[in-house]
Amino acid sequence: MAIHARSWCVISISTGMCGSTSGRWTAPPRLQIERVSDSADTLRLDTRDLSIAAVELTDDGTQWSPATFVLGEADPVLGAPLEVTLSPSATSVRVTYSTSPDASGVQWLEPSQTAGKQHPFMFTQSQAIHARSWIPLQDSPGVRVTYRATVRTPSALRAVMSAANEPETPLDGQFTFEMRQPIPSYLIALAVGHLDFRAMSARTGVYGEPSVVDAAAAEFEDTEAMMAATERLYGPYRWERYDLLVLPPSFPFGGMENPRLTFATPTIIAGDKSLVVLVAHELAHSWSGNLVTNATWRDFWLNEGFTVYLERRILEAVFGRARVDMEATLDRATLDDELARLEAPDQILHVDLSGRDPDEGMTQVPYLKGELLLRLLEDTVGRARFDRFLRGYFDHFAFRSITTGDFVAYLQEELLTGVETGVVNALRLDTWLEDPGLPANAPRSESDALTLVAAQAERWASGDVPASTLETAAWTTQEWLHFLASVPDRLTAEQLAELDAAFGFTNIGNSEVAHLWLLTAIRNQYVPAYPRLESYLVEIGRRKLIKPLYDELALTEDGRARADAIYERARPGYHPIAVSSIDAVLGR
Ligand code: BES
Ligand code: ZN
Repeated sequence: MAIHARSWCVISISTGMCGSTSGRWTAPPRLQIERVSDSADTLRLDTRDLSIAAVELTDDGTQWSPATFVLGEADPVLGAPLEVTLSPSATSVRVTYSTSPDASGVQWLEPSQTAGKQHPFMFTQSQAIHARSWIPLQDSPGVRVTYRATVRTPSALRAVMSAANEPETPLDGQFTFEMRQPIPSYLIALAVGHLDFRAMSARTGVYGEPSVVDAAAAEFEDTEAMMAATERLYGPYRWERYDLLVLPPSFPFGGMENPRLTFATPTIIAGDKSLVVLVAHELAHSWSGNLVTNATWRDFWLNEGFTVYLERRILEAVFGRARVDMEATLDRATLDDELARLEAPDQILHVDLSGRDPDEGMTQVPYLKGELLLRLLEDTVGRARFDRFLRGYFDHFAFRSITTGDFVAYLQEELLTGVETGVVNALRLDTWLEDPGLPANAPRSESDALTLVAAQAERWASGDVPASTLETAAWTTQEWLHFLASVPDRLTAEQLAELDAAFGFTNIGNSEVAHLWLLTAIRNQYVPAYPRLESYLVEIGRRKLIKPLYDELALTEDGRARADAIYERARPGYHPIAVSSIDAVLGR
């Protein structure tokens, strides 16, 4: 197959199952198929908004003949099934196709949307089920593929993929990639742009536009230490290199664990490493998620809950326990808020997503409730024993996709056999997995540093002391975040002006602190922050940072008018994923 879209980049991909991308096509990509049964005579592929020009079959890889195929009716969530009738001897299928300019898994950026403003940029985001919008394939995390790809680009640009990337590759407009380890389709990723590379260690480095790559390399310099810490705990890193790619600010997520090449938002480059927990998180997915994968999106907590647990262990090893206590305490408040907001069925770890878009399962529940369950298991059997168990788990299920049931069976067998029945029953594993809410035995977190911050916030809010005399000199980002979360929701214009004068919140560079401040500003109609609010929403496209601001604006008539006006300017620069979330907030 070959792909098109906005036609300055041509891709041809062949997978142990798959397709290609944009422009005019050269060698049409092909899927090499593995039959699961002799009687299997139909290959059913997922597609979304693809135009299919031809489907062909081959027995020997050289002679191709047209195949009978039907592109079914499009389902709003799943897209259109492409059913290909297979001859008994066919070994490969090739599909010639083009993608839509609005493909949900691809964003095409104008030069003005990049840091350098000179060159266009494109990137894919396949999780959860967006790979089908740029490659026809079996787009389920229960199916794994290997792939090879050739990408043609304008000659100033570099292509990178979730595969072996060679930083020394000359910029001659042609790049070839190979991913030999079997991965689920949601981890197939591509980006093309004016990219430089900086090595951070022999096996880690960072790609980014020339104006951001040095700052990124400095921010992420602890990546090698994080890898070493994870390997000590959970066994070897199995993907050879670990690089990061810093995307333009419209990237809709904080990070995406594309194998060998994490994609990351530039909003975590704070200058003081305070937001690099995201690197620990995406790196941890190299074990939890990429090596052992959720078989269905109901089992998403196996990816994310495990990853948050690992992320905390990495953070503890590299930055110490106090930092973890802060993150865990902040996250517990986040989880409590989320549980208060969600309907009961969505509070369940093993959530029922039938008939729904799997992206709707992306709440804090799989992440933070999942992490608490693992911490409960650790607390129950002790750290040494739990570490041994997890290491064995990653070895046992390496390169496989598993369900919650598979995990529970393995847990019973390898960890809980031999543990006293009373202790096992007290875990209430079933309740954790299948019921809404948070069980009473959820582990608690406490941070001395944050307790002190809350006390200071309280003294200021009750009028005991002016903001300028608070002892904030040694505060880290996490302490500032807790301070803003601890001041009352309702503040007067004078109080806001006082905080702003003392701490310069309106112009603060840190994207997370600015986010919380802007939320407070909207809630209290603090007009001096509005110009920053507007530039923030226009410049940043990371959904987690922008959606809550639109939500808050939409609560009042005045705010709603402001949101509409800002969104008019911001929307063309947002990724399709952010657009669909914000469209829903503003009723578009
Ligand atoms: N895999 C997720 C991102 C994702 C999940 C994309 C579901 C699409 C569907 C990634 O690992 C992630 O969790 N990113 C977080 C950051 C993390 C530090 C919690 C994010 O982007 O905010
Ligand atoms: Zn994650």
